[in-house]
Amino acid sequence: MSAVSRGEFDGLRGRTAEREVRIYAEALSKQFQVKKKTVTALDNVSLTVHEGEFVSLVGPSGCGKTTLLRIIAGLETPTAGTLTMQHKNPQQPLNSMVFQEHAVFPWMTVRKNIAYGLKMRHVPKVTTEKIVNEYLVKIGLTKFADSYPHQLSGGMKQRVSVARAFANDPEILLMDEPFAALDEQNKLTLQQELVRIWEETRKTVVFITHSIDEAIFLSDRIVVMTAHPGRIRSTFQVDLPRPRKIEEVRSNPYFHDLFFEIWSQLKEEVHKARELEGIEGGA
Ligand SMILES: Nc1ncnc2c1ncn2[C@@H]1O[C@H](COP(=O)(O)OP(=O)(O)OP(=O)(O)O)[C@@H](O)[C@H]1O
Ligand SMILES: [Mg+2]
Repeated sequence: MSAVSRGEFDGLRGRTAEREVRIYAEALSKQFQVKKKTVTALDNVSLTVHEGEFVSLVGPSGCGKTTLLRIIAGLETPTAGTLTMQHKNPQQPLNSMVFQEHAVFPWMTVRKNIAYGLKMRHVPKVTTEKIVNEYLVKIGLTKFADSYPHQLSGGMKQRVSVARAFANDPEILLMDEPFAALDEQNKLTLQQELVRIWEETRKTVVFITHSIDEAIFLSDRIVVMTAHPGRIRSTFQVDLPRPRKIEEVRSNPYFHDLFFEIWSQLKEEVHKARELEGIEGGA
């Protein structure tokens, strides 16, 4: 049995002492059929994400992170389990996704790309212009407002992609390794920009990354997944003060302790994933 309900919410489960629950995934499993073989991508995954919480998922490659995010986005149906999402304001989109790359429309200028979601929702032109201008400033691309994506660097394109997702004002943002393809300097700059925008907007975010540094810097909570098939292995609360600055976070001894704690668990899962690959590869 699987069920995905959007907009309805069980009031009893829907509240904790502090914050409302926005995403409630209960015992989700997902299997794919590949050439008569069954691939179990997710196995009994339960996850709760609260209002205004920034949650990151980390786990070895192929453990089911993207599958879980796609189920939350409504792009994939779970084979078993239930997913409940709270959609508070029907005027706002429930969620938007930001991908690793190719997320901007090449035939549209930066300005039009950022305005896209608002235009689709028929937001008045004056309001759209105001929001787009705000985001152009936030991401430092005012001078490139009328440029096309092919005239931008990879980092700039990813900025546009992040700005477009925030400008569309979804209740929940789902980000699948949005900075993975960037060089280190661009990555650090975009992480800092994302933190700044997020600290202003406090959107509910589920963020996938392979980088423990990135997860700690951005998140309120980090969920470590097991090697294939994906299960939840453990959850870490990130008790670092906000607003956060990369330099301050990285020089905080707590950052290093947390990094090694997460890595000690992730390392085991990465090794398991490698062994599995070996078995599947016939080694
Ligand atoms: N559409 C699909 N059809 C068949 N198998 C799939 C499909 N999507 C995902 N899988 C399989 O499900 C498992 C989980 O894949 P998924 O892409 O969710 O992993 P991931 O954790 O996001 O990996 P990565 O870190 O490499 O992005 C993998 O074994 C993958 O091959
Ligand atoms: Mg993935």
